[in-house]
Amino acid sequence: MDWYSALVFSVCIAASCSAEDLTFPPGFKFGAATSSYQIEGAWNASDKSESIWDRFVHDLPTRILNQDNGDIACDSYNQLERDIEMVADLGLHYYRFSLSWPRILPSGFPNYISKEGTDYYNRLIDGLLAKGVEPFITLFHWDLPQSLQDLGGWTNPLIADWFADYARVVYTLYGDRVKLWLTLNEPVVACDLSYITGVTAPGIISPDVGTYMCNKNIMLAHAKAWRVYDEEFKPKYHGKVSIANHLLWFEPQTEADSEVAELALQHLAGRYCHPIYSKEGGWPPSIEKVLEKLSLERGYSKSTLPAFTQEEKDLVRGTYDFFAFNHYSGRQIRWAKEGETFSPWPLGDAEDLNGKIEFPDHWPPTASSIFYVYPEGIRKHLRWAKEQYGDLEFVITENGLDTLGGLDDHDRISYFREYLKQILLAIKEDGIKLTHYTAWSLMDLFEWMDGYHSKFGLYQVDFNDPLRTRTPRLSAHWYKKIIEAHSLDVNVTQDVL
Ligand code: BGC
Repeated sequence: MDWYSALVFSVCIAASCSAEDLTFPPGFKFGAATSSYQIEGAWNASDKSESIWDRFVHDLPTRILNQDNGDIACDSYNQLERDIEMVADLGLHYYRFSLSWPRILPSGFPNYISKEGTDYYNRLIDGLLAKGVEPFITLFHWDLPQSLQDLGGWTNPLIADWFADYARVVYTLYGDRVKLWLTLNEPVVACDLSYITGVTAPGIISPDVGTYMCNKNIMLAHAKAWRVYDEEFKPKYHGKVSIANHLLWFEPQTEADSEVAELALQHLAGRYCHPIYSKEGGWPPSIEKVLEKLSLERGYSKSTLPAFTQEEKDLVRGTYDFFAFNHYSGRQIRWAKEGETFSPWPLGDAEDLNGKIEFPDHWPPTASSIFYVYPEGIRKHLRWAKEQYGDLEFVITENGLDTLGGLDDHDRISYFREYLKQILLAIKEDGIKLTHYTAWSLMDLFEWMDGYHSKFGLYQVDFNDPLRTRTPRLSAHWYKKIIEAHSLDVNVTQDVL
């Protein structure tokens, strides 16, 4: 038995471990997360350049619900002290936030480093550390410099080196104080969602080709940035780096649908995980096969999923220090029937796999049309990932519920409670080494296509107030209590509001 299992096992004996044992293992950590474009505002402050999200929302405001945009967002660029205060009040062990690449490197390249941009993050990091909260940094959460998009963005193979250069600047600036890193947040959104549907920046639609060029280049970019840390910084700073993928659980409608459910998992999660975490590296073989067949049927000369050379496979394979993932929801999937029509993947059906998506009636809907509540999905996903890639350290980098607002958010508390119960079962019954849980989100923020309509925050933000006043919701009080108690066995009542 390794040290982690031994620890959990001994705690289980002491506390008589059962499904109702609601305590977390010693050393388990709680955090909350945000991202730069969703909270910072100050989109053109000082020498910051335009990101693809600035361009996307300004060019055609109707792309976003109510024509909202992130120009001011939560104004975190100017409300940094308040953000640190909230994080400290909650008693978080760590705070996950992302850096704006065009704020640090206005040209996209390391030829010019913004003093004001880098100072902002220095103050944030130092302020967190002064309160005993560990900074957990994501290098890229979708706000690519527009200058790089003009050169092809993620479809240009050179971007792997551009990203590694940016990563080196960041590790040099902050590596002395920051020990937990994520290279990319949910590359599946930057590639699949963007290039298939155009509903997220850069708004370029190229489902068969752009999606997979992006997929390959982004894997290489991650790998190069990971290796820069591993070779040049890890020996002196001893930090850890990984990538945060989005894992959406696919539940087969009947046993006969298990194969299409597994294909969907490999398509959406495997394409971004297999190259990194599998023993052999490269694309998931089942998906390689499906996409090659489809590409030829569609008249391309070869698969539009670009092949990896052996050298590239070796470059990407093994570039992780833990397995990080964001998880919100699940989908039920079944084989499509003859003549059925499809809505676009990845929000809709899995047309390329001949799969139809449905939501069972007992999965409650949320404020957005894409998420349904299915807590068992997170445990199933952990088991799937362990089976696929081995007994790794798992870190949940996002999980949360969107509502239509209000301070009394019992629904969010029960969402967190049910998901955390499944996480405890995964740890205690399935022996999963899960060490961190991150609530999304610290506060209400710019929710991409949904603007400010759906609310994910532990803190409510008043977007009509120029000061963007933040007020703790009931769930913030509850989360603080579970962190203090290191157990789910806590209660809060409305009178704290
Ligand atoms: C993203 C967040 C987003 C959240 C809720 C995740 O896919 O990383 O930026 O706000 O989902 O939609």
